[in-house]
Amino acid sequence: MSLDPDDWDAFGAQAHAALDRAIARLRDVREGPVWRPAPAEVLTAFEAPTPTGPRPFEQVLDDVEQLVAPYVTGNTHPLFMGWVHGAGTPYGMVAEMLAAGLNANCGGRNHIGPVVERQITAWMAQAFGFPADASGLLVTGASQANLVGVLVARAHALGLVARPEGLAGRPRLTAYASVEAHGCVAKAMDIAGLGSDQLRRLPTGEDGGLSLEALRAAIARDRAAGLMPFLVVGSAGTVNTGAFDDLAGLAGICAAEGLWFHVDGAFGALAAFSPRLKTRLEGLEQAHSVAFDFHKWAHVPYDAGFVLVRDAAAHRATFANPLDYLSREPAGLAAGETWPCDLGPDLSRGFRALKVWVTLQTLGTDALGAAMEANCEAAAYLARRIEASGHFELAAPVGLNIVCFGVKGDADGALARRLVIALHESGRAAPSTTQRDGRAVVRAAIFNHRTTIADIDAFVADLETTLAAL
Ligand SMILES: Cc1ncc(COP(=O)(O)O)c(C=O)c1O
Repeated sequence: MSLDPDDWDAFGAQAHAALDRAIARLRDVREGPVWRPAPAEVLTAFEAPTPTGPRPFEQVLDDVEQLVAPYVTGNTHPLFMGWVHGAGTPYGMVAEMLAAGLNANCGGRNHIGPVVERQITAWMAQAFGFPADASGLLVTGASQANLVGVLVARAHALGLVARPEGLAGRPRLTAYASVEAHGCVAKAMDIAGLGSDQLRRLPTGEDGGLSLEALRAAIARDRAAGLMPFLVVGSAGTVNTGAFDDLAGLAGICAAEGLWFHVDGAFGALAAFSPRLKTRLEGLEQAHSVAFDFHKWAHVPYDAGFVLVRDAAAHRATFANPLDYLSREPAGLAAGETWPCDLGPDLSRGFRALKVWVTLQTLGTDALGAAMEANCEAAAYLARRIEASGHFELAAPVGLNIVCFGVKGDADGALARRLVIALHESGRAAPSTTQRDGRAVVRAAIFNHRTTIADIDAFVADLETTLAAL
């Protein structure tokens, strides 16, 4: 019994109509609210029991239009400024649909999927100044990519014998990052069995970058205590403020101390596509591994994280797991020495590479870099408007595309939080919040390639009127 449609022509018409609606939604995104909560009747629809019988596809697509599409995050909208969300592109959307149609399992085997992924690896190696034979893997996101980096560094420090034997009786490993490093780094230490407390979260200097003196002192302290420093995680773009660590300085310390140098460049690493911004990445070319996301500043649809590892053999040795039914042959579909499943935790994997490849091929890295520069200019403009305002004050230096600001006199940040909620509920803008100097502040992260200076003006006007109303 086939599950395909009985009437391909009717199916085609329905599918084309759905695609037309999706295209129109992106074209007209500016007209709608940034976000709206799903009403009770919509939420109730998702409590229906498991469907055992069929429904017409047209009706199901209609549900997607009515019950799903209006109530997603809103990060395609130019006034979405929360967290760190890419905006996607129509090209990526179509690529994702085409990939679903091919339904390739890119965990391995001899087919074009892993070839596309290897080309992306080669492009990224070139962009970051890594050797041409560096190894790379698409993963869900930077959290997973950082975990892969920590696991390769762990295997490098302890030797491969720790893979079968585990960590008991091995030296206690310690890692180092700044207090501004993303929480997923500590979580990676936890998942790796090393303990999140074994990540030393060190102070930053005035520029928001990890203090090199603090790093040297912490390494010395841990060595003196009989622990085994093994890893430094540098940040290329911190989540709170977009600050960059001194990557060249960190690389120098890692070389002198014999430590693995991993960079979390979740969004900042792709600043390599901008001639103006890439100066911040000096030293990245010396890293042993880099984690970043195509779904953030490269606007590939979710999800598309990536990890690049300088030493391909070390990367493979960390994950390769020979299984009888996955044996490699000299030719045929089972040919190929290294499969993507040898480079990470997943066996079955979708064709993420296609949407990355289509996005980069269609737009080119120059346009992506120019969009990043425009975001930084919009952020600098927003910072100037905030500084000129009588009601708001900057809460952190604006070095990139993230503007943190508080409400004057709002000691604990309660007003800033209410302000952000009110903006969300209005549907007109969606910044988020973070903590600076012990108080909640508004955090506007300008990541959307659709955001214009006029949007920033509208946002500032909205901030003022919403604050007055509160
Ligand atoms: C600096 C940094 N690292 C890591 C992450 C985690 O990335 P992901 O959400 O793709 O797992 C983020 C997310 O915002 C981030 O900004």
